[in-house]
Amino acid sequence: MISKTRNERADQRERASMSETTLTINGQNHTFDAESGDDLIPLLWVIRDIIGFTGTKYGCGKALCGACTVLVDGEPVRSCVTPARSLVGKKITTIEGLSSDPQLGAVAQKVQKAWEELSVGQCGYCQGGQIIAATKLLAAKPKPKPEEIDQGMSGHLCRCGTYMDIRRAIEKISQSS
Ligand code: FES
Ligand code: FES
Repeated sequence: MISKTRNERADQRERASMSETTLTINGQNHTFDAESGDDLIPLLWVIRDIIGFTGTKYGCGKALCGACTVLVDGEPVRSCVTPARSLVGKKITTIEGLSSDPQLGAVAQKVQKAWEELSVGQCGYCQGGQIIAATKLLAAKPKPKPEEIDQGMSGHLCRCGTYMDIRRAIEKISQSS
């Protein structure tokens, strides 16, 4: 009886440790218990509700609007439809960590400065995703043509209609580089 209880406890401990998931977000490891959600809990809910990086927003929940965009190993990912547990061992960067990212931080700082100078954001809800997209665009193409700006920013919706201000901010950065 005693040994059965010990075995049950060992099983319990094993199950508990298996339910823990560690993600690397903005250069730091964060561990959460996947049983608080399930195996498919989207990254968005982990970074917002469990870890507390609330700069990443929920818009459509269907990979259509771009509000939930984060970088995974440097590439944009829609966190609303990406299971958090699929990202173990990968480097996740949210808008909070973008300006200190070793690869993209310098460009991100220019983007954030131009956004402030031109007062691009209105309600701000979409702007984390917009800034991540603009940073990726300018890192790949420091002087994008107008059509390249449109293509690079497509898929990021803004209900406040800041599209022209976003384009002006990107052009301002490209002219100064
Ligand atoms: S909330 Fe993820 S793309 Fe809209
Ligand atoms: S600034 Fe309001 S949704 Fe884009």
